[in-house]
Amino acid sequence: MQENAVLKSLLERKSIRRYKPDVPGEDVIETIVRAGRQAPFAAQLGSALLSRERERHPFKAPLLFTMLVDVHRLERVMAARGWARKSCDLATLLFGIQDAAYMAQNMVTAADALGLGSCFLGMPPFRAAEIKKEYALPDRVFPLVQLAMGYPAEDPPPRPRYPLPFTLYEGRYPEDDQASLEAAMAVMDEGYLAQDYYRKAGVMVKLEGKAEETHHFGNYSWTEHMGRKWGQWLTDPQAVLEQLRACGFDLTGGAEQAPEEEQPRS
Ligand SMILES: Cc1cc2nc3c(=O)[nH]c(=O)nc-3n(C[C@H](O)[C@H](O)[C@H](O)COP(=O)(O)O)c2cc1C
Repeated sequence: MQENAVLKSLLERKSIRRYKPDVPGEDVIETIVRAGRQAPFAAQLGSALLSRERERHPFKAPLLFTMLVDVHRLERVMAARGWARKSCDLATLLFGIQDAAYMAQNMVTAADALGLGSCFLGMPPFRAAEIKKEYALPDRVFPLVQLAMGYPAEDPPPRPRYPLPFTLYEGRYPEDDQASLEAAMAVMDEGYLAQDYYRKAGVMVKLEGKAEETHHFGNYSWTEHMGRKWGQWLTDPQAVLEQLRACGFDLTGGAEQAPEEEQPRS
């Protein structure tokens, strides 16, 4: 395998959930945001909103970036050129999610190169109305994800990933194959158990309803965690659509028709 500093940073990256209180300097923050901004974009639909209120941040991280899908800004640029949006919100959001996400990941890599650690936080879309209020976001801006960032106060090993043949397919999607499924699940479960990841994090998703607990930290690992999350949470699409509506997005309709040119009254 090839080796160099960029690859090392990418291959050894891990989420950081303990931070030193030291606040990164302005030049560091600016470099990280410049690197984020330089990510590929569809329409520069990503922007970042920085908070330095460490006491209020997850993991008391000194920096918290809220990554925004910023359609408001694009529509201002369009309006300045005399254009009104016709693209539907679903399409716009799919592009905006990409722009904001690639920007965020560039920021993660830049932070790593400068000795900082980071952790994505994925809940903003599901409490978007609250975040909109907190940061005075205008309509047509959607908080996609947050990035906690700062100098690491921990150095965990990189976390496991599926084996490469379970990730890279060539030519066509492979036939379902039980043996490679089980091998991939074993890599994930044994890898997380070897790090004692869930016990150290104190995280075991509860079984909803009256179901009796079937696991303990000795055998609770990644595949069970995934099953419990994606098998129990976020079941109501209306609740998600409501958050989007609160931010001025309508995923089920098209753009409002531009008003007809005014006809002279008879
Ligand atoms: C979209 C997204 C949402 C995430 N949300 C959270 C979160 O709410 N809390 C958290 O501690 N980590 C969160 N993470 C970090 C993941 O848990 C982490 O990336 C994953 O477990 C793999 O670990 P690693 O980053 O150390 O390789 C999130 C990551 C992504 C990409």
